[in-house]
Amino acid sequence: MTHILHIDSSSRTERSISRQLTKEFIHVWKQIHPHDTITYRDLRHSPVPFIDESWIAAAFSPPEQATPELTAALSISDELIDELLAADLYVFGIPMYNYSIPANFKAYIDQIVRVRRTFMVVADGYEGLVKDKKMLVITTRGGSYAASSLDFQAPFLQAVFELIGITDITFIHAENLSMGAEARQESLATARQAIQQFIETWQMTTTLSTW
Ligand SMILES: Cc1cc2nc3c(=O)[nH]c(=O)nc-3n(C[C@H](O)[C@H](O)[C@H](O)COP(=O)(O)O)c2cc1C
Repeated sequence: MTHILHIDSSSRTERSISRQLTKEFIHVWKQIHPHDTITYRDLRHSPVPFIDESWIAAAFSPPEQATPELTAALSISDELIDELLAADLYVFGIPMYNYSIPANFKAYIDQIVRVRRTFMVVADGYEGLVKDKKMLVITTRGGSYAASSLDFQAPFLQAVFELIGITDITFIHAENLSMGAEARQESLATARQAIQQFIETWQMTTTLSTW
């Protein structure tokens, strides 16, 4: 059985294409894997707080110096990290905002990237502690960034999740969504095919590994 953590981050609701695509993913997935479990988090409706001074003091204090106040400052972070560690597959819907990610998803990242919980400092750098996970990131973008140096969304997500140990990351970019109806339809059809392909590949891999 697979446990999925599904997160949406668009500031739009009904009109959001990233929400629509992650929803379609979950719908198809549930038809094939009806017993799999899903945790859903909506960062627009239930935003996580920005980290603050007490969060930073608590996160970087040695565990033996923990006080009730320091422990309390990390309670939301602990909850989000426990939720992250409990899942096997992440399905994240993340629009491009101003070449990067929505602020609510950055707030989420700042809560879960935490020394001693999701990464360790080691002699030659960092060691991620979130191991053996897979991630699917469905991005939505008004334009196209295939040949652009302005994509600060996917490279950032790749780097920050690799830091905490998540190296198996698939991106499906639904691009050109603001470039007219034809371009949008073409892009959505390609994204839907890629979603189907992801699910089929997963099924083939897990079937082979159980032989
Ligand atoms: C505040 C804001 C900033 C945006 N910045 C960019 C951008 O830098 N590059 C881009 O290609 N599209 C940009 N867009 C377009 C969105 O990525 C596009 O509309 C996408 O479909 C939004 O995701 P959603 O449909 O899930 O809401 C921006 C949209 C908004 C609302």
